[in-house]
Amino acid sequence: MKKKLIIFLFASLFLITCKSVYDLPGVADSRDWKTKSISPTPQILSGDPDSGFYYLTQGAYLGTGLPYAMLKKRIEKNPQKFVRKSGLASEYGYAVFKSEHGVEVMNGTCFSCHAGAVGDEVYLGVGNALNDNQSSLELPAKLMNWNVRRKYKRDTSTLDSFDEFGKYFSHMAPYIETNNPGVNPAARIAEACMRFRNPIDLTYTAEPQYEVREYNMASDIPALWHLQKKNALYYTAVGRGDFTKLLFQASVLGIRDSTQARSAQEKFVHITAWIRSLEAPKYPRSINENLAQQGKEIFLKKCKGCHGTYDTPETYPNKVVALKVIGTDPLYANYATDSKIVEWYNKSWFATSEPKSWFEPLSGYAAPPLDGIWVTAPYFHNGSVPTLYEVLSSKSRPEKWKKSKDSKDFDWKKVGWEYKTKNNGGAKMTYDTTLPGYGNQGHTFADSLSDPDRWALVEYLKTL
Ligand code: HEC
Ligand code: HEC
Repeated sequence: MKKKLIIFLFASLFLITCKSVYDLPGVADSRDWKTKSISPTPQILSGDPDSGFYYLTQGAYLGTGLPYAMLKKRIEKNPQKFVRKSGLASEYGYAVFKSEHGVEVMNGTCFSCHAGAVGDEVYLGVGNALNDNQSSLELPAKLMNWNVRRKYKRDTSTLDSFDEFGKYFSHMAPYIETNNPGVNPAARIAEACMRFRNPIDLTYTAEPQYEVREYNMASDIPALWHLQKKNALYYTAVGRGDFTKLLFQASVLGIRDSTQARSAQEKFVHITAWIRSLEAPKYPRSINENLAQQGKEIFLKKCKGCHGTYDTPETYPNKVVALKVIGTDPLYANYATDSKIVEWYNKSWFATSEPKSWFEPLSGYAAPPLDGIWVTAPYFHNGSVPTLYEVLSSKSRPEKWKKSKDSKDFDWKKVGWEYKTKNNGGAKMTYDTTLPGYGNQGHTFADSLSDPDRWALVEYLKTL
């Protein structure tokens, strides 16, 4: 009898463990969880940060691109103007490199999205929140393809150096027009490009491998220096396993196949090392130390359970918080649990060859590290809240807020973007939180504080 009981207990334990290993969407979501701590997975730490920065800015990991000869004269005449007109924050936002066929091509680097201007400075690793992706790229994509393919129809080296970029750009163009300013469609770019790739060898397929939702969903851009603390990537912690593979995914727009992907991934060992070495920028103005100390005490009572502690040695619990607890807009997380890219990714080269990476969506959001939080407005995964003060007071959050494109229009008191609440009749830089996916509700953990305590907490957050 005793033996049977023990076998029964072992069998149940086995079943329970299996279930948590195969934490599939639906299974995990139907279970009653409030927060989940994500455990670390083995990472390659042998990279060299300096080589990483070199590769990041040289751009060969992008594979193919637009023939540089087409834009060379215009860019070289006034590079700053080109950067400004393209909505980039820094000249590192694009790279000119030699393709495998020896042709000079250009393509956007990681810094087209991951470099941002705040106040008087441009910071590498800050999201480019002043960019506006609200116009359609469908027609420009068609014209670009038509133009290049006509102009170089007898020059196969140039055409081959453009081909993948041209095709994937056309495929993603219908899916990346955002319906709010400042937010970024990177997740849709990945979804729209991957579906025209054979999962095994990443080559182009004329037929899509899966369908994507019609609604265009976009997000804020996280700070790159968080990588050193994280066990999983992205707002929903969907990205698991090896980071070099996960990050390499960002260059799917131009890569030809898994052979080219492999040599690029090897460079990502160094790129990841550079990102790991990146530190959050210090708050550039004066801080009231006494007030910050009061704020710290509140933080240790109310916030550290999810966001960790910031005295050496720092701690970070790597928690994902279930939608029902966090209460912020659920659409982005639900989008990830429903997206067919998950299945594609988990049977692809990324997940089946070493070092493995895979997607594991959860109905919740990762509680991010708060290092350098002063410089990463707007806040939450959808960038719906313009300042830190408003993160801490849900009732003060503006429903429609309009900001300028000037990084100097920064609110140093509330810490974040200065804005007007007038609804300028759908004016370009007006963020509308009533649209699906862009709600500014939830995260009410500081609502019960008195206003002086809230300001103390803002002061402390400046020190992180
Ligand atoms: C088109 C804009 C864009 C480009 C280009 C881009 N990213 Fe991102 N990146 C994003 C967005 C948006 C997210 C947030 C997506 C999410 O979390 O769901 C993100 C997320 C990340 C994260 C996860 C951070 C975290 O805290 O979980 C890292 C790291 C990262 N990107 C690195 C890179 C690297 C390296 C490159 C270049 C190879 C790159 N990105 C190219 C927009 C971009
Ligand atoms: C139960 C866990 C939990 C607690 C407690 C908590 N947070 Fe958060 N916090 C989160 C999660 C999850 C997010 C991301 C929400 C999203 O993006 O939708 C977040 C987001 C934030 C952000 C915005 C981050 C960004 O980059 O946009 C700030 C700032 C923040 N929290 C500060 C605090 C402070 C200060 C406290 C204490 C008063 C606190 N949080 C308490 C889980 C928590």
